[in-house]
Amino acid sequence: MAISESTREQLQQLAARYPRPRSGLMPMLHLVQSLEGEVTPEGITACADAAGVSAAEATAVASFYTMYKRRQVGQHHIGVCVNTMCGLLGGDAVYEALSERLGVGHDAPTDDGQFWLERIECQAACTHAPVMTVDWEYMDDVTPAAAVEIVDRLERGETVLSTRGPAIRDFRATEQTLAYPEDGLAAEGTPVDDKMLVGLRIAKEGGMAAPGVPAPSAPTGQEG
Ligand code: FES
Repeated sequence: MAISESTREQLQQLAARYPRPRSGLMPMLHLVQSLEGEVTPEGITACADAAGVSAAEATAVASFYTMYKRRQVGQHHIGVCVNTMCGLLGGDAVYEALSERLGVGHDAPTDDGQFWLERIECQAACTHAPVMTVDWEYMDDVTPAAAVEIVDRLERGETVLSTRGPAIRDFRATEQTLAYPEDGLAAEGTPVDDKMLVGLRIAKEGGMAAPGVPAPSAPTGQEG
């Protein structure tokens, strides 16, 4: 797909945000992905031109990071964490249920282009394992039945909310936010809840601290 002049201008604007244009390569690749639904060879070349690197260097970045896709992702990216904590608590069963429901395996799109299913690595959300993501928004403490229902609702075009608040948009919209994280949406929702703070609370109550680090102050009763 040909890269438009407008896209090239946006890539130049991203490059201009950094002391060295090459530092903007990753948001540039997200921008291309938001506009084209994948990172095409033409998109990689355009990013390389704007970043002042070779096409081979840009390809190395695009092929190293799994968030960059070389095939059309479709409307929604569905990720299921199957790392240790999520896998032990049901992530594998969630993945199997979704694979059966969608009729696809790992890292592949459905025939109708509506979903892309992927086993993903730890999302740093183990407190709420097993975790599923939809267009990189968290679905915490998910079960196989709940995961299938989320897909059913997305397929019907219903509004689906992440368990942390934000409404699910679509893959391209999320990619746009990754290119422009200052759009106000990146910090939407509830990043921290009581369950995530249990360990800190226990450490405070017990006066525990890592070696060489002062103990946290005793609880005041004002914590969330
Ligand atoms: S193991 Fe799944 S979020 Fe950490």
